[in-house]
Amino acid sequence: MIIKNVSLETVCGISSSIPDNDKPEIAFAGKSNVGKSSLINSLINRKSLARTSSQPGKTQTINYYNINDMLYFVDLPGYGYAKTSETIREQWGMMVERYLMNSKQLKVIFLLVDIRHEPSLNDKNMYDWIVYHGFMPVIIATKLDKIKRSQVAKHIKMIKESLGATSETKIFPFSSLTKQGKDEIWAYIETVCEL
Ligand code: GTP
Ligand code: MG
Repeated sequence: MIIKNVSLETVCGISSSIPDNDKPEIAFAGKSNVGKSSLINSLINRKSLARTSSQPGKTQTINYYNINDMLYFVDLPGYGYAKTSETIREQWGMMVERYLMNSKQLKVIFLLVDIRHEPSLNDKNMYDWIVYHGFMPVIIATKLDKIKRSQVAKHIKMIKESLGATSETKIFPFSSLTKQGKDEIWAYIETVCEL
């Protein structure tokens, strides 16, 4: 896709209502610091439209990026950020769940996991939630540049097994440093959104 214009159109906090968009939405879920905002920036060829940080917990709202007036990328706050209080963590969880359950335009939930590590219990719960609610699970294994090429297949297998994914489950290895995987992810988005 040629990116002509992108803008941060809507920001939802804990008490905001979800916008009633009429374009397809793609959501990016995953633990804090896994690289959700970095992936969005890579996909839209921007350095820092989606704010990123080496400190986990950067994205604390649900951010809707309007892409060419054709679709929305929805950047979700990450889960599993240890420094927040239990109450805030619960509120975040409720906010994200409310969005995922109520968006009428949500076409795909990408679940991002770090390619280096075994998925956490939170990742597994998120994966199960996606499947349970009838969405097709699609995994993006981030930070591909951090492992040796010879290790990729082994790590992909470990992630799929650990999440309980089937052999048909799509998994895209991706690096926001090298942009490896970007074209495949875009091709997938264009297919599911029928662009
Ligand atoms: P929250 O907003 O806290 O949920 O985090 P996030 O998932 O949006 O992560 P973010 O994109 O802010 O990235 C977190 C850190 O990981 C930053 O320091 C990024 O530069 C780094 N990072 C993200 N993707 C990659 C990648 O593919 N490779 C490497 N080496 N670093 C990455
Ligand atoms: Mg973020």
